[in-house]
Amino acid sequence: MVQLPDQPSTQRAEDSQYWDVSANYDVTYRVICTNGVLLSSNPLLLQLGSSEKTGREDHGRRLVFVESEVFRFYSDAINRFFCSEDSRIVVLNATEKTKNMQLVENTVEQMIQFGINRRSEPVIAIGGGCLMDAVGFAASIYRRHVPYVRVPTTLLGIVDAGIGIKTGVNFGNHKNRIGSYCAPVAAVLDTTFLATLPKRHIRNGLAEVLKMAIVSDATLFQLLDSHALTLVKACAESSPASLRIIQLSIQRMLEKLEPNLWEKDLYRVVDFGHTFSPVIEMIKVDRLLHGEAVAIDMCISTVIAAKRQLIGIAAADRIIALTNRIGLPVINSDCTAANMQAALDDVVKHRDGLQRIPVPTAIGEATFLNDVSLQEVMEACEYLQRPFAEGALQ
Ligand SMILES: NC(=O)c1ccc[n+]([C@@H]2O[C@H](COP(=O)([O-])OP(=O)(O)OC[C@H]3O[C@@H](n4cnc5c(N)ncnc54)[C@H](O)[C@@H]3O)[C@@H](O)[C@H]2O)c1
Ligand SMILES: [Zn+2]
Repeated sequence: MVQLPDQPSTQRAEDSQYWDVSANYDVTYRVICTNGVLLSSNPLLLQLGSSEKTGREDHGRRLVFVESEVFRFYSDAINRFFCSEDSRIVVLNATEKTKNMQLVENTVEQMIQFGINRRSEPVIAIGGGCLMDAVGFAASIYRRHVPYVRVPTTLLGIVDAGIGIKTGVNFGNHKNRIGSYCAPVAAVLDTTFLATLPKRHIRNGLAEVLKMAIVSDATLFQLLDSHALTLVKACAESSPASLRIIQLSIQRMLEKLEPNLWEKDLYRVVDFGHTFSPVIEMIKVDRLLHGEAVAIDMCISTVIAAKRQLIGIAAADRIIALTNRIGLPVINSDCTAANMQAALDDVVKHRDGLQRIPVPTAIGEATFLNDVSLQEVMEACEYLQRPFAEGALQ
């Protein structure tokens, strides 16, 4: 830091005084796979981020936000687990449609009413990506950050939304436009929640697993390929094959996130499938899920790469075929020129002046493009609109 001079000099523009402030912000959080997170025999949830650090006695007083559908299935277990009379369970209707500032304000209001201690009573968020994003954002701004724990109950939450440090909500029609980087105390992953998750939402999460396979892990892709038709059931039952796939996907995701947690580097392979998807996802908020929009985007990006001969036709075909076999869409009618142009325009702003569009170069590898034209995108869309058949690119 620059020292203040003993005698201030006569002010001229060239000797303006300045102070450089520089500090590091350490972040440590644990992503934990456990079974039966709501069993009273498993005290993990109440131990995380509690009085260890403050030395005060912890009475298990917690403010717990639970997504309404999750509460419908798990109310008995949740009520039993958070039995301390000082705890409060707040049920929130957190969907893509309600993931907005109003939800954040309601959450903050609950924090005020409950009067959480600033450091030692982590807020607990139990639900899908929508609930965790909104509650995480509220926790990041309440008193400029109170600790929180994520307990994802969807596959997408387990492999993606629950394990990074991003929080946020939609603003108007703009997907995740407001948010923060705020690490949770921990993310507690329990795949037994998937037993009640609708199949469509399991496929939705598989889209993000497929994304990690395509850009970073050919073995994971192979595993997905060989289990494609039974994967949904396997996830619902937490079968050993599905657990291996889920854990490998988490591992790859964390390897990519950790060196770039605050997204200083905007060339991110984990953004594969997230170039065109934010626009088409917001057009049909109730009808097209996040992972479905990502699947469409991944196919468009793959065809663009194939047409440029950056990826072999056989590999591109395998990607599109697997997307289809998992039961995810490869294109939809919202991929119009106007929407694709809007997506290209917005992504350049989002990625600070360059497109930085991740595209696969082989199964398990990716590169970035900065010069994709609308015409190329539309040709890829037209290609994908054709009746789908495996081997179609050949
Ligand atoms: N923060 C991040 O890094 C990040 C990453 C990826 C996605 N996201 C966000 O996550 C959101 C999508 O998350 P999502 O796919 O989990 O959707 P979601 O939160 O809407 O949950 C999906 C549906 O499943 C229901 N549900 C949740 N758990 C259940 C269970 N165990 N049993 C039965 N029903 C259950 C919910 O009621 C909801 O209807 C998007 O808004 C996306 O932007 C955030
Ligand atoms: Zn995503």
